[in-house]
Amino acid sequence: MRAIDWVDGAIEIVDQTVLPATLVTRRLTTVDQLIEAIRSLAVRGAPALGVAGAMGVALAAREFTGDAAARDRAVGRIAAARPTAVNLAAGASRAAGWLADGPGAVLAEALALRDEEIAASVAMATRGADLVGELCGGAARVLTHCNTGTLATVTGGTALAVVTELHRRGQLAGVIASETRPLLQGARLTAWELGRAGVPYRMAVDGAGPFLMARGEVDVVLVGADRVCANGDVVNKIGTYAHALGAARAGVPFLVVAPESTMDDETAGGDQVEIEDRGRDEVIAFHGTAVAPPGAGAANPAFDVTPADLVTAVVTDTRVLRPGRIGAGQPADR
Ligand code: MRU
Repeated sequence: MRAIDWVDGAIEIVDQTVLPATLVTRRLTTVDQLIEAIRSLAVRGAPALGVAGAMGVALAAREFTGDAAARDRAVGRIAAARPTAVNLAAGASRAAGWLADGPGAVLAEALALRDEEIAASVAMATRGADLVGELCGGAARVLTHCNTGTLATVTGGTALAVVTELHRRGQLAGVIASETRPLLQGARLTAWELGRAGVPYRMAVDGAGPFLMARGEVDVVLVGADRVCANGDVVNKIGTYAHALGAARAGVPFLVVAPESTMDDETAGGDQVEIEDRGRDEVIAFHGTAVAPPGAGAANPAFDVTPADLVTAVVTDTRVLRPGRIGAGQPADR
């Protein structure tokens, strides 16, 4: 399965708004359809958003042939559809660099990015599983947050690819997937992916993570990232920071698994990153059912910043970084 691909002149996505109840593929043939899919999280997860951004520019190049100004506006709207994951704007920008060479060249670049993300997933799985083996010795009990599998990439995943690789190696003692309020990417998507892969898992409410670590039930935390800043700060789904604090307190390794396309050396630290605010409705209701009294206000930051000093390591497709040493001119550990 691929979460996103280019098929017969259009973007095809697995519609993540209706999982786990229904597995539906949607075809996106216009820039407006793509932007709606990105905003509604029908397509989501940093690497998948990068590919969506690049393929979106390929759509724009076709849709606005002969009107460069309209095309460029469309490219800008795609890049800005969600602000936090560095991959979206970076993917759009990379593909847009080929606009002068025509739609075919833009599409070729988007497909190259897709293929790079697929290869990156394979490399992260191996490197991440090796590191977990080193840190944990025997079979590991993993806690993960949000969804970082095939659905968040193209196929494979980041942190969840490490989980499935550990399972394949017989080095996984269990997975706790935190539900990931308010949109339940953990409960709806990660649980669905783990079930399909035959990986045993348990769900936990988000707030249980730090206590489960304190009680000795977790050997390692594996999460993805939407952006890793130059100083090693990790921007990821809201709730990640709480897990990192719990892991630090309990002495549990906290590993971030993200492709090189998510490394953002241009942004000094997490305080420079725009954190998407998704508004009140997602917090006070779920799928149309109220979970709070009418009139309740809400804070809804979709992401948080885990300071570099709480991160044991960042595993990419090419390196393992120790956060205190991430940044300009600093060599990777391996
Ligand atoms: O709002 P989402 O579902 O797009 O957020 C996704 C995450 O925060 C993931 O953890 C991150 O993109 C890494 S996915 C490989």
